[in-house]
Amino acid sequence: MICLVGMPGGGKSTVGRQLAKRLGWQFSDTDVLIEKRIGCSIRVFFETQGEDRFREVETSAIGDSILYRKMVLATGGGAILRQENRCLLHSRCHVVYLHSSPEDLYRRLRYDTSRPLLQVPDPQARLRALYEERDPLYREAAHFVVDTGRPPIAALVNMVLMQLELAGVIDSALVPSPVESQKPPS
Ligand code: S3P
Repeated sequence: MICLVGMPGGGKSTVGRQLAKRLGWQFSDTDVLIEKRIGCSIRVFFETQGEDRFREVETSAIGDSILYRKMVLATGGGAILRQENRCLLHSRCHVVYLHSSPEDLYRRLRYDTSRPLLQVPDPQARLRALYEERDPLYREAAHFVVDTGRPPIAALVNMVLMQLELAGVIDSALVPSPVESQKPPS
Protein backbone atom coordinates (compact mmCIF):
# COMPACT_ATOMS: atom_id res chain seq x y z
CA MET A 1 0.00 0.00 0.00
CA ILE A 2 1.14 3.51 -0.84
CA CYS A 3 -0.13 6.25 1.40
CA LEU A 4 -0.09 9.98 0.68
CA VAL A 5 0.18 12.46 3.54
CA GLY A 6 0.40 16.24 3.53
CA MET A 7 -1.38 19.48 4.22
CA PRO A 8 -4.93 20.18 3.00
CA GLY A 9 -4.80 21.44 -0.58
CA GLY A 10 -1.50 19.67 -1.24
CA GLY A 11 -3.01 17.46 -3.95
CA LYS A 12 -3.18 14.12 -2.10
CA SER A 13 -6.50 13.03 -3.63
CA THR A 14 -5.77 14.24 -7.16
CA VAL A 15 -2.26 12.81 -7.26
CA GLY A 16 -3.39 9.65 -5.47
CA ARG A 17 -6.14 8.95 -7.97
CA GLN A 18 -3.77 9.38 -10.94
CA LEU A 19 -1.06 7.35 -9.25
CA ALA A 20 -3.46 4.48 -8.64
CA LYS A 21 -4.55 4.60 -12.27
CA ARG A 22 -0.95 4.41 -13.47
CA LEU A 23 -0.26 1.43 -11.21
CA GLY A 24 -3.57 -0.29 -11.93
CA TRP A 25 -4.25 -0.25 -8.19
CA GLN A 26 -7.32 0.72 -6.18
CA PHE A 27 -7.63 4.27 -4.85
CA SER A 28 -9.14 5.22 -1.53
CA ASP A 29 -9.49 8.47 0.41
CA THR A 30 -9.94 8.44 4.18
CA ASP A 31 -12.09 11.61 4.10
CA VAL A 32 -14.53 9.87 1.74
CA LEU A 33 -14.60 6.75 3.94
CA ILE A 34 -15.22 8.92 7.00
CA GLU A 35 -18.09 10.82 5.35
CA LYS A 36 -19.71 7.49 4.44
CA ARG A 37 -19.46 6.39 8.07
CA ILE A 38 -20.66 9.59 9.71
CA GLY A 39 -23.41 10.20 7.15
CA CYS A 40 -22.77 13.93 6.88
CA SER A 41 -20.04 16.30 5.72
CA ILE A 42 -16.81 16.52 7.71
CA ARG A 43 -17.50 20.21 8.24
CA VAL A 44 -20.89 19.52 9.87
CA PHE A 45 -19.40 16.69 11.94
CA PHE A 46 -16.67 19.00 13.26
CA GLU A 47 -19.32 21.56 14.23
CA THR A 48 -21.62 19.10 15.95
CA GLN A 49 -19.28 16.44 17.42
CA GLY A 50 -15.94 18.24 17.63
CA GLU A 51 -12.46 17.51 16.35
CA ASP A 52 -11.59 14.79 18.92
CA ARG A 53 -14.49 12.63 17.84
CA PHE A 54 -13.52 13.21 14.20
CA ARG A 55 -9.96 12.04 14.95
CA GLU A 56 -11.31 8.83 16.48
CA VAL A 57 -13.30 8.01 13.35
CA GLU A 58 -10.24 8.92 11.26
CA THR A 59 -7.99 6.52 13.19
CA SER A 60 -10.49 3.73 12.72
CA ALA A 61 -10.80 4.46 8.95
CA ILE A 62 -7.00 4.33 8.62
CA GLY A 63 -6.84 1.07 10.56
CA ASP A 64 -9.36 -0.54 8.20
CA SER A 65 -7.71 0.82 5.04
CA ILE A 66 -4.19 -0.45 5.63
CA LEU A 67 -5.36 -4.03 5.25
CA TYR A 68 -5.24 -3.61 1.47
CA ARG A 69 -2.07 -4.26 -0.52
CA LYS A 70 -2.45 -2.86 -4.02
CA MET A 71 -4.02 0.41 -2.98
CA VAL A 72 -3.11 4.09 -2.98
CA LEU A 73 -4.57 5.78 0.10
CA ALA A 74 -4.97 9.56 0.40
CA THR A 75 -5.26 10.63 4.03
CA GLY A 76 -6.73 13.80 5.56
CA GLY A 77 -4.25 16.55 6.42
CA GLY A 78 -4.53 15.88 10.16
CA ALA A 79 -4.13 12.10 9.98
CA ILE A 80 -0.55 12.33 11.22
CA LEU A 81 -1.46 14.24 14.39
CA ARG A 82 -1.90 11.05 16.42
CA GLN A 83 1.27 9.14 17.07
CA GLU A 84 -0.53 5.82 16.67
CA ASN A 85 -1.52 6.82 13.12
CA ARG A 86 2.03 7.90 12.26
CA CYS A 87 3.45 4.61 13.54
CA LEU A 88 0.81 2.52 11.83
CA LEU A 89 1.22 4.24 8.47
CA HIS A 90 5.03 4.18 8.63
CA SER A 91 5.22 0.52 9.57
CA ARG A 92 2.55 -0.78 7.19
CA CYS A 93 2.67 1.48 4.11
CA HIS A 94 5.10 3.24 1.81
CA VAL A 95 4.35 6.78 2.91
CA VAL A 96 4.84 9.73 0.55
CA TYR A 97 4.69 13.27 1.93
CA LEU A 98 3.46 15.72 -0.70
CA HIS A 99 5.15 18.85 0.57
CA SER A 100 3.79 22.30 -0.29
CA SER A 101 4.63 25.72 1.11
CA PRO A 102 1.94 27.54 3.11
CA GLU A 103 1.88 30.19 0.36
CA ASP A 104 1.09 27.65 -2.38
CA LEU A 105 -1.53 26.05 -0.15
CA TYR A 106 -3.21 29.38 0.48
CA ARG A 107 -3.27 30.10 -3.25
CA ARG A 108 -5.12 26.82 -3.81
CA LEU A 109 -7.47 27.05 -0.82
CA ARG A 110 -8.42 30.76 -0.80
CA TYR A 111 -12.04 30.12 -1.75
CA ASP A 112 -12.50 26.75 -0.02
CA THR A 113 -15.40 26.44 2.39
CA SER A 114 -15.32 22.67 3.03
CA ARG A 115 -12.37 22.52 5.41
CA PRO A 116 -13.50 23.31 8.96
CA LEU A 117 -10.04 24.27 10.22
CA LEU A 118 -9.76 27.04 7.65
CA GLN A 119 -13.09 28.73 8.38
CA VAL A 120 -11.38 31.45 10.42
CA PRO A 121 -10.87 35.19 9.88
CA ASP A 122 -7.24 34.73 8.79
CA PRO A 123 -6.92 31.39 6.97
CA GLN A 124 -3.45 32.25 5.70
CA ALA A 125 -2.09 32.61 9.24
CA ARG A 126 -3.91 29.42 10.19
CA LEU A 127 -2.28 27.53 7.32
CA ARG A 128 1.13 28.82 8.36
CA ALA A 129 0.57 27.70 11.97
CA LEU A 130 -0.73 24.28 10.87
CA TYR A 131 2.29 23.90 8.59
CA GLU A 132 4.74 24.73 11.39
CA GLU A 133 3.10 22.20 13.66
CA ARG A 134 2.64 19.44 11.11
CA ASP A 135 5.62 19.55 8.74
CA PRO A 136 7.86 17.62 11.22
CA LEU A 137 5.08 15.09 11.79
CA TYR A 138 4.58 14.46 8.07
CA ARG A 139 8.35 13.95 7.77
CA GLU A 140 8.32 11.55 10.72
CA ALA A 141 5.58 9.44 9.13
CA ALA A 142 7.01 9.53 5.59
CA HIS A 143 9.52 7.41 3.73
CA PHE A 144 9.60 9.82 0.77
CA VAL A 145 9.13 13.57 0.41
CA VAL A 146 8.02 15.08 -2.91
CA ASP A 147 7.89 18.85 -3.37
CA THR A 148 4.66 19.76 -5.09
CA GLY A 149 5.38 23.41 -6.03
CA ARG A 150 3.53 24.22 -9.23
CA PRO A 151 4.17 21.35 -11.67
CA PRO A 152 1.15 19.85 -13.44
CA ILE A 153 -0.41 16.79 -11.82
CA ALA A 154 1.00 14.36 -14.41
CA ALA A 155 4.53 15.60 -13.65
CA LEU A 156 3.95 15.20 -9.91
CA VAL A 157 2.71 11.65 -10.43
CA ASN A 158 5.85 10.89 -12.43
CA MET A 159 8.01 12.32 -9.63
CA VAL A 160 6.30 10.08 -7.08
CA LEU A 161 6.58 7.03 -9.34
CA MET A 162 10.27 7.75 -9.93
CA GLN A 163 11.03 7.86 -6.21
CA LEU A 164 9.11 4.64 -5.61
CA GLU A 165 10.89 2.92 -8.50
CA LEU A 166 14.32 4.05 -7.35
CA ALA A 167 13.60 2.68 -3.88
CA GLY A 168 12.44 -0.62 -5.36
CA VAL A 169 8.90 -0.24 -3.97
CA ILE A 170 7.41 -0.73 -7.43
CA ASP A 171 8.77 -2.41 -10.53
CA SER A 172 9.07 0.11 -13.38
CA ALA A 173 8.46 -2.67 -15.91
CA LEU A 174 4.98 -3.09 -14.47
CA VAL A 175 3.99 0.58 -14.68
CA PRO A 176 2.23 1.37 -17.96
CA SER A 177 2.97 4.67 -19.68
CA PRO A 178 0.43 7.52 -19.13
CA VAL A 179 -1.11 6.83 -22.57
CA GLU A 180 -1.55 3.11 -21.90
CA SER A 181 -3.08 3.69 -18.47
CA GLN A 182 -5.81 5.86 -20.06
CA LYS A 183 -6.96 3.00 -22.31
CA PRO A 184 -10.05 1.16 -21.09
CA PRO A 185 -9.22 -2.37 -19.89
CA SER A 186 -9.54 -4.92 -22.74
C1 S3P B 1 -8.14 18.15 7.98
C2 S3P B 1 -8.02 17.98 6.61
C3 S3P B 1 -9.11 17.48 5.78
C4 S3P B 1 -10.13 16.68 6.60
C5 S3P B 1 -10.54 17.46 7.81
C6 S3P B 1 -9.38 17.80 8.72
C7 S3P B 1 -6.98 18.67 8.73
O1 S3P B 1 -8.58 16.66 4.74
O2 S3P B 1 -9.60 15.44 6.99
O3 S3P B 1 -11.17 18.63 7.37
O4 S3P B 1 -6.93 18.52 9.97
O5 S3P B 1 -6.07 19.22 8.08
P1 S3P B 1 -7.75 17.25 3.47
O6 S3P B 1 -6.32 17.27 3.83
O7 S3P B 1 -8.03 16.25 2.38
O8 S3P B 1 -8.30 18.58 3.17
